[in-house]
Amino acid sequence: MTGSADDKERAALLPLPPGEGRGEGGCKRQVTSGSDQANTGNGSPGGLSLTPALSRRERERTHAFKVLILGGTTEASAIARALADDARFQPVLSLAGRTRAPVTPPIPWRTGGFGGAHGLAAYLQAEGMKALIDATHPFAARISRNAVEAASIAAMPHLAVLRPAWTAQPSDRWTEVPSMAAAMDALGPQPRRVLLTVGQQELAPFAAAPWHDYLIRSVEPPPPTLLPPGARSFTARGPFTENDERQLLRDERIQAIVTKNSGGAATAAKLAAARSLDIEVIMVARPPAPPGTVPSASAALAWLHQLAAGCERGA
Ligand SMILES: NC(=O)c1ccc[n+]([C@@H]2O[C@H](COP(=O)([O-])OP(=O)(O)OC[C@H]3O[C@@H](n4cnc5c(N)ncnc54)[C@H](OP(=O)(O)O)[C@@H]3O)[C@@H](O)[C@H]2O)c1
Repeated sequence: MTGSADDKERAALLPLPPGEGRGEGGCKRQVTSGSDQANTGNGSPGGLSLTPALSRRERERTHAFKVLILGGTTEASAIARALADDARFQPVLSLAGRTRAPVTPPIPWRTGGFGGAHGLAAYLQAEGMKALIDATHPFAARISRNAVEAASIAAMPHLAVLRPAWTAQPSDRWTEVPSMAAAMDALGPQPRRVLLTVGQQELAPFAAAPWHDYLIRSVEPPPPTLLPPGARSFTARGPFTENDERQLLRDERIQAIVTKNSGGAATAAKLAAARSLDIEVIMVARPPAPPGTVPSASAALAWLHQLAAGCERGA
C-alpha cells in the first residue's frame, strides 16, 4: 500500500511497542492480540458474533482506535452506524442479551455480562480498548456504575450517553414517582384499566395490586411468572405514532399509563396521546445519572474523534 492520507492516519494510530504506556489507558495503551482471538468468536454469550473471515477493511482496522460501546439503545446503534465505515476506528458493540433477536449491528458485537466492573476492566485491557462509551439505557444503572469503575481500573477514557428525560407539558396529567413500587401504589385502591410500558423485567411489583386490569406492552414477551394475575400482554417495538397510540388508548379504554422516564422520540407518542385524551401518566423517575454524560450520539462521536485526534498527535 502506498502512503495515502488514509494510510498516514492509520499509521499514526499504530499502537506503541509492547510494554509502553501499559496502565496509562487511552491512546497509550498497547493493542494486544486478544481481539484477534475474540474476533473469531461464535456469537455465544460473552463471545463476538462476526462473519467468519475478516474483510479487507477489518484487516486494515487491526491497528485502528479500539472503542467498546455498551449498547442496546438507539444512541448506541447510531454510534455503531457512524463508525461502521470509518477505518480510523475499530469499534465493538456490547449488548446485554435481553432481546432474543436483536437487529444485527453493522460492527463487530458481543452479548452477555462481563462479570461486574472487574470483569469489564479485564475485558477492556485484554482487548486493548482505548476508550469506553456507555450508551446503555437511562435505567440500566448497574452497567453504568460498572462502566465508571471499570474505566477507572483500566485508566481508560469513559463517556456516558444519556438522552434528555421527558418533561411534563402544562396540560399533562403526570404523577411522578421514584420507583416501580411507588408507581403501583400511585394506581390507588380502585380498579383501573392500566397500560404498563415498563419493560418485562419491571412487572413484579404490580402483582401486589391485582385488582387493576393490566395491559402490558413490551419488546419481548414477559415470562408468564412475572405477569400480574389476569394481565394481558402483547409485543411491539417502537417507534410508535401518536395516532396509533391514541387508538390503542381509546380501544382499550385505558385510564392510566405507567412508564419509566426513558426519554427519546421512539416511545414519546404515548405521552402526547395521553395528553390529548386527558389520561393520567404515572412516570417513574430515572436512577442517578453516571458522571461524564453527553445527551446524544453525535456528542459522543465528537468526543471520540477528539480523543483519537489527540492520540494521533501523540498526546
Ligand atoms: N440494557 C439496555 O440497553 C436496556 C434497554 C432498554 C431498557 N432497559 C432497562 O434498563 C433496566 C436495567 O436493564 P439491564 O438489566 O439491561 O441493565 P443493568 O441492570 O444495568 O445491568 C445488569 C447487568 O447486565 C449486564 N449488562 C447490562 N448491559 C450490558 C451491555 N450493554 N453489555 C454487556 N453486559 C451488560 C451487566 O452484567 P455484568 O455485571 O455481568 O457485566 C450488568 O451488570 C431495565 O429497567 C430495563 O428494562 C435496558
